[in-house]
Amino acid sequence: MSETVFQVFPTAGDLQRAASDLVASILRENASQGRLMVALSGGSTPRNMHLHLVEQPGIDWSLVHLFWGDERPVPHHHEDSNYRMAHESLIQHLPIPASQVHRVPTEYGPQQAAERYEREIRESFGIDDKAIPRFDLVILGMGADGHTASLFPGTKALAERKHLVVANEVPQLRTTRITLTYPVLNAARNVVFLVAGKDKSAALERVRSGHVTGDDTPAAFVRPEQGRLYWLVDQAAANER
Ligand code: 6PG
Repeated sequence: MSETVFQVFPTAGDLQRAASDLVASILRENASQGRLMVALSGGSTPRNMHLHLVEQPGIDWSLVHLFWGDERPVPHHHEDSNYRMAHESLIQHLPIPASQVHRVPTEYGPQQAAERYEREIRESFGIDDKAIPRFDLVILGMGADGHTASLFPGTKALAERKHLVVANEVPQLRTTRITLTYPVLNAARNVVFLVAGKDKSAALERVRSGHVTGDDTPAAFVRPEQGRLYWLVDQAAANER
């Protein structure tokens, strides 16, 4: 891993504004590749970051392909859909070609959705069944239990090293979610974590101290081999307030 940047902000709002600046600079910096492959996060923290990102100047949105780090097994217009959150807070405000918005096809059910989504990723990157795609940017959150994307403690997806995407049974939520796996997350050029709230402080402490096992803090094992890792957190999550 080339570098890890850890920044603490007074409030979630400050974090979200700073994250939009960082995301914008990453997108500008990588535009020369001719396309920008981005995986968005679900959850609530990214929403306001998206709204700030819409206002950022100098981004060539025609180059951007959007994917998701994970998705819930719900229709894309459902209130719990990560796609819907991104559509409302980001996509509908931007000139991104619809063909470059690659939502998880949850209408096929979790297993088929995972298989179809993996095929779509491979086709979009122009890679064969053995290659691992290198996203220019993966945006992630972290739950109070240390999960990220839908890599939850004690679930099978943590051990997945072949597939890019799996349908991951999450007993603690009594659901099955579709998620990118560690091989994809750790191949990214840039990974940006957005973590806000006191409830995240114990998991974040485990990440910062390195006192983790694969089961108790999956987010700690996102360490891009040849990429930059950014942790943008608020003071509440960093236990500084
Ligand atoms: C999801 C996300 C999940 C999220 C964390 C943090 O689908 O919910 O992918 O991994 O990032 O649960 O969520 P908050 O940002 O709401 O705290």
